[in-house]
Amino acid sequence: MSTSNNHERNSPLEMTAEAFRTTGHDLVDQIADLLDGLRNRPVTPGEPPTMIRVAIGERGLPAHGVSASEAMAGLPDLLFDHSLFNGHPRFWGYITSSAAPIGALADMLAAAVNPNVGGAVLSPLASEIEAQTIRWLAELLGYPTTCGGILVSGGNMANFVAFLAGRQAKAPWDIKTHGVVDHGRHLITYVSAETHTWIDKAAELFGQGRESVRWIPVDDDLRMRVDLLRDQIEQDRADGHVPIMVVGAAGTVGTGVVDPLPEIAALCREMDLWFHVDGAYGAPAILSADAPTELLAMREADSIAMDPHKWLYAPLEAGCTLVRDPNHLLAAYSHHPVYYKFDEVSDQPAVNFYEYGLQNSRGFRALKVWLGLQQAGRDGMAQMVSDDIRLSRAMHEALDAHPEFEVWTQHLSISTFRYVPPEIKPGTPDANDYLNALNEQLLERLQSEGEVFVSNHVINGQYLLRACIVNFRTTMADVLALPEIVARVGREVHAEMR
Ligand SMILES: Cc1ncc(COP(=O)(O)O)c(C=O)c1O
Repeated sequence: MSTSNNHERNSPLEMTAEAFRTTGHDLVDQIADLLDGLRNRPVTPGEPPTMIRVAIGERGLPAHGVSASEAMAGLPDLLFDHSLFNGHPRFWGYITSSAAPIGALADMLAAAVNPNVGGAVLSPLASEIEAQTIRWLAELLGYPTTCGGILVSGGNMANFVAFLAGRQAKAPWDIKTHGVVDHGRHLITYVSAETHTWIDKAAELFGQGRESVRWIPVDDDLRMRVDLLRDQIEQDRADGHVPIMVVGAAGTVGTGVVDPLPEIAALCREMDLWFHVDGAYGAPAILSADAPTELLAMREADSIAMDPHKWLYAPLEAGCTLVRDPNHLLAAYSHHPVYYKFDEVSDQPAVNFYEYGLQNSRGFRALKVWLGLQQAGRDGMAQMVSDDIRLSRAMHEALDAHPEFEVWTQHLSISTFRYVPPEIKPGTPDANDYLNALNEQLLERLQSEGEVFVSNHVINGQYLLRACIVNFRTTMADVLALPEIVARVGREVHAEMR
């Protein structure tokens, strides 16, 4: 870093120790102020991309560089003034958590050392921290700590990694050599109708095709119908297909519903199918005494997807796949390039994460998760998750008590509801069409005005607003303020539409 190390070469990207220190201190000061004042900012400025392009300044690639401090000048404010803050106490859209500040420090430290956590030789300490993080995440869920696992970019990827491992484990022919169809026989996966779109992508991208996915209908509570699941598996076997895997949700993306995991686990055991749990959102709810006890059956799964960047409050990106038997990950992913000599470190077997997933070169995303788990501890995580559930229920009750809302579902920390003006009587097709259009416009208005940020879901053709609390900054006052804010904007939109 210092020029004394590097006096023979003038590298434009090098920084002196002094320049790094000054620029870095300045940046840390500005971030500290941002976090301190987050509540006083709008959740989002709601600007269109054209305005943002003007703010960045239209220009071509610079031919000549500038100093690091010049490049950084004004940048924090630019980002702060034109960003949406998912760490704002009133951000309840989608399932993106408030990020633990210690994670920002971790990412900076990780980038400074820049270990390549593909091979233990290239990341001696980081690989061990990732391995310990995986054991801690397993312990947090009550899953065997002897499992295999890997940190990935998020929930899509965590589910893909498990899907490919399960498929490799259960396919009765050599799919690596012959592909995924054998004499017209297809490998079939079963999911509930409420499953996240990762399953479509997996079926499309990994060669099975969308017709290999059976979308099992849900009951009135939006949980997978296990009786219909059994019927479908039997039908597929009778038709000569090869059922391989059932995916149960530990918290669906739309409404937070937990599937009947104990029954699904039992059926998978009976039918010799891979039992995968998509706990990308809801797995950490197992820490809360208020969550459905069916979550405990997650511990019987062959694989689990969970996302530290959702309900463990890690900054983006951090997903995690856990697989009961690590050999199934190795069987799916391990390759040995001739140019890798990573098998041992000082004569001891090494954990080389490139053998457990899709990437060779990998960053040190474990550090932010590891530090967050240390700062909060299991009890701290349990407290924050339980608080989010309690706040979501309080929000739901407050909406229910308000005369201008119809509430729909409340599971884990997700509430769904819609704005209904007093003179509109829901129930007729015309009224429902109008309410759908009204709530869609209302959502657009809320998302651009930045006072609160919610998202939407559609249940049985009804367009609903949806608030998901995975936010350790949200308070009871914040959730109790929601109904009147949404009703006020709802009245405005209704008046304009009429
Ligand atoms: C249940 C579930 N699975 C998968 C995903 C995909 O996660 P990601 O957006 O991190 O890829 C989500 C995202 O909300 C989810 O809720």
